[in-house]
Amino acid sequence: MKRIAITRRVSPNIARCELTHLGREPIDLARAEGQHDDYVAALRTLGCAVTELPAEASLPDSVFVEDTAVVLDELAIIARPGAESRRPETASIAAALTPYRRCVAIQGPETLDGGDVLVVDRDVFIGLSSRTTAGAVEQVRAMLAPLGYQVHALQVADCLHLKSAVGRVGPSTLLLNPTLVDPGLFGDRTIITVDPAEPSGGCALLIGETVIYPAEFVLTRARLDDAGILTLSVALSELAKAEAGVTCCSLVFSG
Ligand code: GLY
Repeated sequence: MKRIAITRRVSPNIARCELTHLGREPIDLARAEGQHDDYVAALRTLGCAVTELPAEASLPDSVFVEDTAVVLDELAIIARPGAESRRPETASIAAALTPYRRCVAIQGPETLDGGDVLVVDRDVFIGLSSRTTAGAVEQVRAMLAPLGYQVHALQVADCLHLKSAVGRVGPSTLLLNPTLVDPGLFGDRTIITVDPAEPSGGCALLIGETVIYPAEFVLTRARLDDAGILTLSVALSELAKAEAGVTCCSLVFSG
């Protein structure tokens, strides 16, 4: 079975991105593009066949493809992003996913960002954030219950998305910031907490047995090392100014 990744090149207008919890800082486009190239190279190193969609000048946040869909083995849920400026991002993603999956769309007025959806085996954790509504969680539950998934709604505060706070780093291991999300919500899974000096360190992208992890969070990476978890560091500091983490820039699934 092939491992597929869908990415999209950085918009030349990323400086006009949505911001919720961060102040606006200048973004060096060439540096952001270079870091994104390195991220795509890391996906390839980990065995992904990468489909890179072209940059979209009119869609500043469109490099963050994770928010546009949730890809499961059985189907793809096409999101309806909470930020109105991001809704036109989904059409091209649905077209890219159609060869691989049946696509089912979230219906308005409800909204869902893929960054709020953490799938761990048959458990689907969905953050109720400023982007994702309880009604969208109910739509996902109706889609997935017949397929044997359990859908859990979680409150998310003080960060953009659920996956800003928690990431899967092993078959049954999660990395999280306990000040942003309650560790008790994830059953009997092993929890590794971020170093308190790195509150954004919970965002991690597990591919196979390796975690793509931000280069700047060295203290939390040492905790992953101590737990025997393999990491591949990437620098995404320019895209982080647009309120992004390592999961945001790809949709990874089995082809
Ligand atoms: N800038 C990423 C987002 O707000 O969706």
